[in-house]
Amino acid sequence: NIKKTEAIMTAAPVIPVLIVEDPAKAVPMAEALVRGGLPVIEITLRTERALEAIKLVADNVEGAIPGAGTVMTAAQYEKAISAGSQFIVSPGATPTLLDIADAFADVPLLPGAATASEVMYLLERGYERLKFFPAEQAGGAAYLKSLSSPLAAAKFCPTGGVSLDKAPTYLGLPNVLCVGGSWIADAKAIANEDWAGIEERARAAAALTGR
Ligand code: 3PG
Repeated sequence: NIKKTEAIMTAAPVIPVLIVEDPAKAVPMAEALVRGGLPVIEITLRTERALEAIKLVADNVEGAIPGAGTVMTAAQYEKAISAGSQFIVSPGATPTLLDIADAFADVPLLPGAATASEVMYLLERGYERLKFFPAEQAGGAAYLKSLSSPLAAAKFCPTGGVSLDKAPTYLGLPNVLCVGGSWIADAKAIANEDWAGIEERARAAAALTGR
């Protein structure tokens, strides 16, 4: 399953993290992201209608790879997959969550970790592809780089406080496959239906490389 997870992480250099209040905006939003070159789309379960948004994207947006973010419970896990999520992201990992994930092993989970012990626990549970969260606040690229030698098997998607300017430093690390962030399509851009702006920021994000 590491191959499946890695396919999600390497489809583009950036995974846009989205908070969608109005499902009616989900399809044009996802189309703008796909046009801009970001097919992998993480819709967080932080709004009441997030699952509807995932389903609409899964059913209607060609080329999109929708997933659910902020998944923390078994119920959310099941609903997210029923809605058409092709991957699951969580801010952290508990034994309970990982037990649920084992029951849906064909859908990749990107579990969050921010410390060496958390990474070691996830490695023990068979996870080598992780979300580093909250990236900037937990210590940023310098911190993550220092995990790369002792915990070489773990490769990350840093998320949290990452911006267009900060992304290249992360992408240049040996233990980073992609980054995540909300800057491409924040709540305001979605509410304002700024599809052109979202596409433009997606295009810039899709062109990012490490430095
Ligand atoms: C989040 O917590 O919403 C994600 O990690 C994205 O963080 P960001 O808004 O700082 O990019």
